[in-house]
Amino acid sequence: MLVKIAKDRIRKGMFVESVACPSREFAQRRFLIKTDAELNDIMATSAVEVSINVLLGLDPDGRAPEARPSKSKSDRARAEVRNEISQSAKALKASLGDLVAGRSVDMAHLTQAAEDNAGIWSDSTVVALEVTRLKSKDETTYVHSLAVSGMMTLLARSLEMDEETTGILGVAGMLHDIGKLLIPSEILTKPGKLTDQERLVIRNHPEAGYRLLQSYPDLPPVVLDICRLHHEALDGSGYPLGLKQKDLSVPVRLSTVCDVFEALTSVRPYKRPWTSTEALDWMFARPHFFDRKMVIRLGSVIADAPLH
Ligand SMILES: [Fe+2]
Repeated sequence: MLVKIAKDRIRKGMFVESVACPSREFAQRRFLIKTDAELNDIMATSAVEVSINVLLGLDPDGRAPEARPSKSKSDRARAEVRNEISQSAKALKASLGDLVAGRSVDMAHLTQAAEDNAGIWSDSTVVALEVTRLKSKDETTYVHSLAVSGMMTLLARSLEMDEETTGILGVAGMLHDIGKLLIPSEILTKPGKLTDQERLVIRNHPEAGYRLLQSYPDLPPVVLDICRLHHEALDGSGYPLGLKQKDLSVPVRLSTVCDVFEALTSVRPYKRPWTSTEALDWMFARPHFFDRKMVIRLGSVIADAPLH
């Protein structure tokens, strides 16, 4: 949740979303104020106001998110969901770390984690959407993967896929961006413009992830397909293989729609988050990229979700 405060009220422990000044130093930068130097740098700008994110740091009264009293049932529910997702993100970080390190994969464990995550999403879709759209740089890949996994599960159920397939898609969502863990963090989290070479490294993450998952024969083939093909587009303009509609399976199309929706609706350093409606409209207007049936169905999943 973003709150604007006067510049002279900022303090260490607050999470800065934007500083309203022309200084390039703060353009496209979101960060937790950790040092006096950072505080002084902000004070030295011409800004009158600073936007802070009170879900990720102290509020204007200096209270940490967990120390603030919940005012209502919905606040408590939100705090609970935030906590559950944060715990799930930590567990996913450990599991993906094991996979990257070549340690054995426990499919039953991954399936249970995906099921637990799906439970959060089906019980509290709107709150989960709200919580996961705000993520710190350190947890981006994990929270994004949980959100994509949760939405893929809801969409699969809405399309009346069987429970086993739905469970596998939940796992696929959790693993789809594992290739990003192989990208040097200075490239992955670079705040400024990427060089052509850096862009190539990032665009290689589906293939890198696929090659990594190939060493785990217990994983269902669709998990590997989704990892490799989630950035493909129906007209063949996607990457890494440039496959066209006829070669992109229903599960792959489903993953692409959830992945792009999550990215568009998330807070990123370089753009404001789009509303669900804006994201769905944008995708619907691009049937050459996205499967319209999936976009429509995702829209109804979100529209029909309980508001708590
Ligand atoms: Fe990706």
